[in-house]
Amino acid sequence: MSAMLNEIETLGREALEAIADAPDLKLLEELRVKYAGRRSRLRQILSGIGELQPAERPVIGKVAGELSRAVEAALAARHEQLAESDVSAAIDVTLPGRRPKSGVLHPLTRIADDVIDILRGMGFVVADGPEIEDDYHNFDALNTPADHPARDLHDTFYLKSGQLLRTHTSTVQIRVMEGASPPLRIISNGRCYRRDTVDPTHHMVFHQIEGLYVDRDVSLAELKGTLNLLGQRLLGEGTRTRLRPHFFPFTEPSVEFDFSCRLCDGGGTVTAGKSCRVCKGTGWIEIGGAGMVDPAVFDAVGYDSERYTGFAFGLGLERMAMIRHGIGDIRLFLENDLRFTRQF
Ligand code: FA5
Repeated sequence: MSAMLNEIETLGREALEAIADAPDLKLLEELRVKYAGRRSRLRQILSGIGELQPAERPVIGKVAGELSRAVEAALAARHEQLAESDVSAAIDVTLPGRRPKSGVLHPLTRIADDVIDILRGMGFVVADGPEIEDDYHNFDALNTPADHPARDLHDTFYLKSGQLLRTHTSTVQIRVMEGASPPLRIISNGRCYRRDTVDPTHHMVFHQIEGLYVDRDVSLAELKGTLNLLGQRLLGEGTRTRLRPHFFPFTEPSVEFDFSCRLCDGGGTVTAGKSCRVCKGTGWIEIGGAGMVDPAVFDAVGYDSERYTGFAFGLGLERMAMIRHGIGDIRLFLENDLRFTRQF
């Protein structure tokens, strides 16, 4: 009996040491087969207990049984340790791969890119300007002095420093003209801020794209031609442009411009007797403001207003995107809801 007890003791020491030192899961599996498998020596001892002398059975049975449980516990503990550090065990390479979620361009980025591409094709270059501005660039240099009633239309966010958040991208016109001589053809796009009440078509933060062209003999007809081409490239060949008289302090004459409605093709109705829901039956959609640069603006930046003329236009990107995609509420652009942005 003592020979068998010695054998079990040696076997136990050898097995527990080997298991504790197993370097990887593959070798651990080999050790499991060797020390705890159906054909292992320990199993042979356990299944042969019935053939031992009656006095030996409880002693050998107890020692062999304890060793069997110790070996199982050691195998489980080592397996857990190795699995944590063994990447090949943590990643089952036979599983189908998980596709990484790709981002999408925001509809405003897409429409800005499109407008910029079209205008670049007409020779305009992109210019940039700050969102935190001063009264001079946002108003005074644009022929809108402090007591001008047009300032009320741009309900402005002022900072403690006396600076303001620009209310339109026309500020960039001034900054560019201050640093460059004519002829020039620029576009600027970016965020604008107004203390407007938020509703389906107004927000306090919105985006504009502005165009400015200054040269000798620039005419209103060229402005209309430019806007017309922009509308056709952006919304479709059949798009027409309409200019309506308006007032801006920095342009003279000033206009608002509309594109013909894409949905009803300018007719005002889609189904007989029902007004088009996009243009409310008018056949036209208001896009932005424009006009011939007022000579007072040229004077402010030191351009010779006898020699040069120019046109400028500005349009709201959110409104453009709303028309293009049939979006009913401007607030959706700022909410960053993936269910919305993924649709475009
Ligand atoms: C201007 O801001 C002028 N600077 C445009 C201009 C440029 C005229 C150059 C002449 C020459 P207006 O305030 O109308 O104009 O704004 C232009 C466009 O910005 C509007 O047609 C509209 O699309 C958008 N917009 C204005 N306020 C908001 C607002 N609160 N929310 C969303 N879009 C707005």
